[in-house]
Amino acid sequence: MRILDHAVVRLLPLVPRAVVQRLSAPYIAGPELADARSTVGALNAAGQMATIDVLGEEVTRVEEAETIAAAYVDVLDAIGADGLDANVSVKLTGLGLKVDVDHCHHLLERVVGEAARRSTFVRIDMEDSTCTDDTLALYRRLREAGNDNVGIVLQAALRRSLADLAAVRDLRPSVRLCKGIYVEPPSIAFQEPDEIRRAFVALLDALLDAGCYPAVATHDEWLLAESLARLAALPADGYELQMLLGVREARAAELVAAGHRLRVYVPFGRRWYEYSLRRLQENPQMASMVARATLARLVGRG
Ligand code: FDA
Repeated sequence: MRILDHAVVRLLPLVPRAVVQRLSAPYIAGPELADARSTVGALNAAGQMATIDVLGEEVTRVEEAETIAAAYVDVLDAIGADGLDANVSVKLTGLGLKVDVDHCHHLLERVVGEAARRSTFVRIDMEDSTCTDDTLALYRRLREAGNDNVGIVLQAALRRSLADLAAVRDLRPSVRLCKGIYVEPPSIAFQEPDEIRRAFVALLDALLDAGCYPAVATHDEWLLAESLARLAALPADGYELQMLLGVREARAAELVAAGHRLRVYVPFGRRWYEYSLRRLQENPQMASMVARATLARLVGRG
């Protein structure tokens, strides 16, 4: 990321919410479940799978966590009713991880059970490093209780991720591999883009060595090439590629046309703000977009 972008990332929280909402619209299906349904239907028609995320994280009350868990059950009903080729992605802080770990486990178990009844799958997103231990512990608890339709995410940026993989290797986990979006200190996380890329490739090698199902989540052309070279030995259903809604859509279509299975992350809901800030951080055009939007506002056109 360039220096100018770094400066804008720091300023992003100062950008008016209406501007953030407008700039981030391509990354979010919309406020309602109906929006996610139609977005996923269109993706499926284009040969792409989806994972649906109910927006909402860092809840502070058990009741909010219950509401999000119930929203996931509605999503699973919709997946079944519409016959969508989709699963769900959950953020444990949205299910109350920071409020009550046992209750979060109970809600996650409910969502995973409802998903199993509809023969679908739950991916537990990985959040910032304060959540890593609890997330992996809850994953193990679920797997040891016999739930196989659940998987995790490993972040290449975290120095601990190879060790985390070694610790769950006995479970042959389904793992989404990504760079990691959360800002973490150098003591625990690689900072340089090339270090993160090297760690990503090392993790993919370790996943393949462990016989895990890899879901390679990146839009980085260099990493895609390195990953595809390694995945070439697997059968077409032995791995998947993943991308975010609104990012590199033309490249996603090319990859599908080339015969790869590709899943798009489809967030929806009314709690769009935190997710939107993270996506804008990563948009290479963000600095100029934010500058233009702010300028337009200053001259009264915003
Ligand atoms: P990089 O950021 O270098 O992007 C490569 C190129 O893609 C850019 O040069 C640009 O062209 C394009 N691009 C990327 N982001 C863009 C944007 N917002 N707007 C426009 N263009 C953009 N992280 C995490 O910590 N926990 C998680 O659970 C997940 N889950 C997850 C699921 C899926 C399906 C994906 C694809 C990603 C995640 N992530 C995540 C986010 C991930 O960690 C990472 O932050 C982003 O994928 C960006 O990294 P890339 O590897 O795409 O490279």
